[in-house]
Amino acid sequence: MVFKWTEQLAVGVDIIDNQHKELFDRVNKLIDAFNEEIDEGIVRELLDFLGTYVDEHFSFEQDLMKHYNYNDIDIHVFSHKLFTENMAKIKKEILTNGVNYVLTQHLQDHLCDWLINHIYKEDRKLGTFLRLNGKQ
Ligand SMILES: [Fe+2]
Repeated sequence: MVFKWTEQLAVGVDIIDNQHKELFDRVNKLIDAFNEEIDEGIVRELLDFLGTYVDEHFSFEQDLMKHYNYNDIDIHVFSHKLFTENMAKIKKEILTNGVNYVLTQHLQDHLCDWLINHIYKEDRKLGTFLRLNGKQ
C-alpha cells in the first residue's frame, strides 16, 4: 500500500506540513508493523504515540483557527472528531482481536484515505486562509 505525503498535499504553512509528514511517517510505521511479524507491544506503542500525536496536531490546527477567526472552524473540528472516533474504534479492535485483514482494510479506508482527503480538501483550505492572514 502506498501512503505517501506528496507536494500536492502541502498546505503551505511549514509547521502544519511538517506535522503532516510526521503523521504519515507514523502511520506507515504502523502499517509496516501490521505487515511484518506482529509484535503486539510495538503495535500498542505505535497506536499510543499516534493517538497522542493526532490529538496534539488537531489541537494545534484548531488553536490556529481560533486565533485567526477561521469561518469554517465548526465543520473542520467536526471532521477531526470523526477521525479521532474512528481511530479509537480501530485501536480498540486491535487491542481486542489483534491485527487481521479486515482491520488492515479498515485502517486504509478510514484512516489513510480519510487523512489524504482531509488534508487535500480541508487543511489546504485552512492553509490558504492562514497564509492570506499572514501565517507563514
Ligand atoms: Fe485538519
